[in-house]
Amino acid sequence: MMKITIIAGSNRKDATSTRAAEYAAGRLTRQGHTVQLFDLYKQPLPMYSPDAGADDSAVKLQRAMQEADAVILTTPEYHGSISGALKNALDYLGQSHFSGKAVLSISSAGGPIGVSSLQQLQAIVRNLHGINSPEWISIGGAQRSLFEQKPADYEHNSGITDRIHRALDVFSELASRLTVPHPARTS
Ligand SMILES: Cc1cc2nc3c(=O)[nH]c(=O)nc-3n(C[C@H](O)[C@H](O)[C@H](O)COP(=O)(O)O)c2cc1C
Repeated sequence: MMKITIIAGSNRKDATSTRAAEYAAGRLTRQGHTVQLFDLYKQPLPMYSPDAGADDSAVKLQRAMQEADAVILTTPEYHGSISGALKNALDYLGQSHFSGKAVLSISSAGGPIGVSSLQQLQAIVRNLHGINSPEWISIGGAQRSLFEQKPADYEHNSGITDRIHRALDVFSELASRLTVPHPARTS
């Protein structure tokens, strides 16, 4: 079983992207994984500056990311890109937090699909030497209304949850392959 850190990248109290993060956390926890959810609305970070050190919240984020075997990033789609809050959080992190780890990207968009933010997020993950999961999750348009409810209420909704379950399964399969100790390194 793995340690998975989720960064919920919205700065909005009732964010659908954060509900999606909680949904993923619930499913992965029920499968036996240890999940830490770092919600940037509840734990806001100061604007990153290379001149300043990391404050307590940033250190907590860095620690959660260091401990993680695999990572999930969720974001609202803002102006065809990721949220400023998530980009700011990622600026506190580096290759030591991502290298060789499976990373799943999830976005919530006002339009039918939020692929633009997902592509940009995957480019950042590549830059940090994370390994993008082959499937991503885009929640768009009317689908977002499902995520204005509590997770238990939409657990059995078929269409979108089937797609989310599949993407989560592909992600955890990749993550478990990447976390298996290499025989040469254990002997
Ligand atoms: C500043 C801003 C920019 C946005 N830009 C886009 C956009 O480019 N494309 C889009 O589909 N929706 C856009 N939206 C709508 C959000 O993506 C949508 O409301 C999303 O569900 C917000 O996610 P959240 O529920 O996690 O806050 C924008 C919203 C805001 C506030």
